[in-house]
Amino acid sequence: MDKFLITGGVKLQGEVRISGAKNAALPLLAAMILPDSPITLTNVPDLKDVGTLIKLIEGLGVTVERQGDRVVADASTLNNQFAPYELVKTMRASILVLGPLLARYGQAQVSLPGGCAIGSRPVDQHLKALEALGAEIEVEAGYVHAKVDGRLKGGEVVFDMVTVGGTENILLAAVLAEGVTTIRNAAREPEISDLINLLIKMGAKIEGIDTDTLVVTGVESLHGCEYAVVADRIETGSYLAAAAITGGRVKTTHTDPNLLESVLEKFEEMGAEVTRGDDWIELDMLGKRPKAVSFRTLPHPEFPTDMQAQIMAVNAIGRGFATISETIFENRFMHVPELSRMGANIQVDGNDAVVTGVETLSAAPVMATDLRASFSLVLAALAADGETLIDRIYHIDRGYENIEAKLQSLGANIKRVSS
Ligand code: EPZ
Repeated sequence: MDKFLITGGVKLQGEVRISGAKNAALPLLAAMILPDSPITLTNVPDLKDVGTLIKLIEGLGVTVERQGDRVVADASTLNNQFAPYELVKTMRASILVLGPLLARYGQAQVSLPGGCAIGSRPVDQHLKALEALGAEIEVEAGYVHAKVDGRLKGGEVVFDMVTVGGTENILLAAVLAEGVTTIRNAAREPEISDLINLLIKMGAKIEGIDTDTLVVTGVESLHGCEYAVVADRIETGSYLAAAAITGGRVKTTHTDPNLLESVLEKFEEMGAEVTRGDDWIELDMLGKRPKAVSFRTLPHPEFPTDMQAQIMAVNAIGRGFATISETIFENRFMHVPELSRMGANIQVDGNDAVVTGVETLSAAPVMATDLRASFSLVLAALAADGETLIDRIYHIDRGYENIEAKLQSLGANIKRVSS
């Protein structure tokens, strides 16, 4: 199993190119089931999760060609609507093929994704929304069996909580339904807007982009197109956090400051100098120790839960203390015991954590538990005295493309060791 060996104490300096967003590429790949003609995605990140979803749609019979960051898919060869547990259990966003399969073929058997380290991650909202469009859904032996006689019918969908995946699944179904679908309490993450932009380019009729109320007028069919995946705002924030925690200066390119304004404001509150360009962001910590910052994770455009672990790591060496509230997932503090092993002072009470900054963290063997927690351990190791060994880094390969190369280009002393 691969591990990272990181020797801390280097102020990171330099420029890093941001890849396409994992959390946009996944729903966009699911959307490739919908059009009658071949469709091309570019700026697709080379990540394990992307590979898993491509394998899953190929298993449906879709013809997929991948050259570098370009993926071309032709769904005219799709010959089954079965998404097996073996694949879905490794990547829960696989549930996103349910909506498009139902919309286009009137049936689907998709394994339930099951939970993960950060929470039970149910899909009840996905299923309720699809039933509002006329789908008949049975859950049996760990599989969702869905079908509809004829076409899905447009309807009213109201989500009980903001759900990114739920919003994506119902969008992927409503675009081919007969009539109008109104989606209330819709998620507003940039990855939702990216999916809406792709669907509109394929010929879909969707109003309300960037708002919490979407109106979809179903069409008979959709056509192929070429579309570039939006930049990864969480990867962007993660590398800017690497500059903040090491007192360095990093410029992220091929990204967009508008995607993560709430995070940039927290970096400025820390005392960092943040400069915004059209497609780049530079963070200069001016060699200073950051001020610890409090925040609460909330749906976009508020502070994203996917940046919680990373900013907690920065707070761990921050000046003063700060309170972090995790309101999205029920178990997203798995990085706390690992950071504490490195000397962090973090008191957890339910979904609240109080972090009291310490001067320095000390290297220690630690273990990654989930994707973003893994990056928070990398951040802590970059700032710690000595050599830190991070185990189970397969988690990090799911969401960070070429992470060692990108960090090494910023001066980090990191290498991957297999044991
Ligand atoms: C997406 O997950 C992201 N994953 C997550 O990123 C991200 O943390 C999350 O949105 C929130 O922003 C992808 O886009 C592939 P939700 P998703 O449905 O869609 C509850 C990462 O690190 N809920 O918005 O699964 C759910 O349990 C990953 O890149 C229900 O109760 O998240 C959670 O508490 C981690 N029933 C809350 O809603 C449902 O039917 C938000 O979940 C659906 C969700």
